[in-house]
Amino acid sequence: MKIAVLAGDGIGREVTAEAVKVLRAAVGRTRPMELVEAPIGQAGVDLAGDPLPPATLQAARDADAILFGSVGIPGDEAIPYGMRPGASLLRLRKDLDLFANFRPAFLFPELVAASTLKREVVEGLDLMILRELTGDLYFGEPRGIAPNAAGAMEGFNTMRYSEPEIERIAHVAFRAARGRRSKVCSVDKANVLETMQLWRTVVTRVGREYPDVELRHLFVDAAVMLLMKEPKSFDVMVMGNVFGDILSDAAAMLTGSIGMLPSASLGAGRKGLYEPVHGSAPDIAGRDIANPLAAILSAAMMLRHSFDDEATAARIHGAVGRVLREGLRTADIHGPGTTQVGTRTMGDAVVEALKT
Ligand code: NAD
Ligand code: IPM
Ligand code: MN
Repeated sequence: MKIAVLAGDGIGREVTAEAVKVLRAAVGRTRPMELVEAPIGQAGVDLAGDPLPPATLQAARDADAILFGSVGIPGDEAIPYGMRPGASLLRLRKDLDLFANFRPAFLFPELVAASTLKREVVEGLDLMILRELTGDLYFGEPRGIAPNAAGAMEGFNTMRYSEPEIERIAHVAFRAARGRRSKVCSVDKANVLETMQLWRTVVTRVGREYPDVELRHLFVDAAVMLLMKEPKSFDVMVMGNVFGDILSDAAAMLTGSIGMLPSASLGAGRKGLYEPVHGSAPDIAGRDIANPLAAILSAAMMLRHSFDDEATAARIHGAVGRVLREGLRTADIHGPGTTQVGTRTMGDAVVEALKT
């Protein structure tokens, strides 16, 4: 197993260190594992003058899987696009053609009280947000900031999706649903945007090849509302890049904290990039208080998808559940009757729980 470890910036480094610790403990000597560390994000800029240094891109290309932390520094939205830490992640996703981003929102029973929603709304929650990851406003051309005909500065981005792009993500959604509760909800804005009108037409057509899977369409505004009202009515939710970015952070709150949400970004083959959904959290970085469980669960997703090792993935999942049952909590999920611990102690506890 050749794994590129791109920890990045802020808490990305802290949580990735814990994920690596757990990975080493879980895999042990059962399989040879080669970890190749490389800088990315602001760390890439500091070390090599590029958020995605060529050597890092090469390491990612050469690896079987990528374990990614997070990138970003305070105020980075003002940095020119190409030098911005976040651009590294977008380039990586595009270069490796990782178009299917799985963001499972799963509520550990122990964390029901950590959610801001009522127990009966979230208890037993298990939904899959499938976000298209290489198209949409994120990559559409033209884009930029330039003077318009009237001489005023104008910012512009382009929402674009081609039929093959929609088809491939739709197939992934229907196939994923078959392994779950056989329901797909496609989220769009077909009532306003032509791109989304095509999205709905193509998803509907692909859906006819999966008569055993129930297909429902929602406009994105109503989808967010229903996600808060009745999250358990959803199974797989498929959507474009922008809506997926927003809805997955919203879904995070159903699970108690954004520090609990892992993700897998996949392409046509086995190779994938695995990362927590959260960012570099500069507000809490360097204080050993970040929740490492999203990163640890992302490592479990890596074993499952890239290395076909469902057993070890399940062991990691089980160990996380055990630690939560013991009452250990990082600050973000801490509440009455539980014990607050730091990032490293949480990682150590998961390693310990793997032994039992
Ligand atoms: P963020 O996800 O970093 O943080 C949002 C809030 O959630 C913060 O209050 C933070 O403290 C908290 N939080 C996040 N992860 C946590 C964890 N593991 N444990 C406990 N609390 C956690 O989002 P933001 O503040 O909007 O962005 C900060 C930077 O991260 C920006 O530069 C942004 O571009 C970047 N970002 C990167 C990624 C990525 O690398 N995939 C994702 C999102 C944001
Ligand atoms: C995410 C992040 C990224 C995105 C940023 C950092 C480029 O928010 O992975 O959700 O918008 O895709
Ligand atoms: Mn995001």
